[in-house]
Amino acid sequence: MFIDTHVHLNNKQLESHLEEVIQDAFLKQVTTMIVVGYDLETSQKAILLAHQYDWCYAAVGFHPTEIKDYTDNEYQILEEMLQDEKVVALGEVGYDLHWDTTTVEEQERAFVRQIELAKKYHLPLIIHSRDAHQITFDTLKKHHAEEIGGIMHSYSGSVELAKEYIKMNFSFGISGPVTFKNGKNMKEVVEQIDIQYLVSETDSPYLTPHPYRGTENGPQYIPLIVEEMAKIKQISVEEMALAIRNNVNRIVGKTL
Ligand code: NI
Repeated sequence: MFIDTHVHLNNKQLESHLEEVIQDAFLKQVTTMIVVGYDLETSQKAILLAHQYDWCYAAVGFHPTEIKDYTDNEYQILEEMLQDEKVVALGEVGYDLHWDTTTVEEQERAFVRQIELAKKYHLPLIIHSRDAHQITFDTLKKHHAEEIGGIMHSYSGSVELAKEYIKMNFSFGISGPVTFKNGKNMKEVVEQIDIQYLVSETDSPYLTPHPYRGTENGPQYIPLIVEEMAKIKQISVEEMALAIRNNVNRIVGKTL
């Protein structure tokens, strides 16, 4: 019934007890997952998992803090990965101005290069944007990302900016912070943005929802996020979950 559109089963932490993570998720009816890569190795792992499990799909891409040593060689491999039948998106890519392992210029070059690849292979983007709301928007607009659109991962920007993103064919990944007392921005986005632009994600093993903050996150907590979304939208959890499934299918252009 439920979908996790952003989970790092390819991360060492979840990998170390993967069968348990999957079992817990299925017990909570989280039966479809998109495993998101953030560097070459985790993108390759995402594809392996997607081939191992029917219910699993992959997103591949290079996160802005991981691109420093990447040359044409890595981008060549990325391009090959994008042609895999279980790859449904390019990501996570974007800007991260919180960490300074790479410069803004390096991040921009890598981002633009990957936007162009997403356009070439008609794949939606999964966007990571940390401390970089405006520059992320500007780069996507300048490089015509509206041709493919995608998902603003764990969106914490304003409702105003969200409306601009909708015009560029983007939807919003709603995650753990929607359950936090101080998750005002994300709650507002759920409240004010049309339901057809909302999807659910955990970003596991990070961003654990209330009341499990401080422990490892896993896809089994998706219902907590969808319940909060349903409550804000004043509909049933089943209706919310169904809307999310339709939205994800529309975004990736196939039935997951
Ligand atoms: Ni992530």
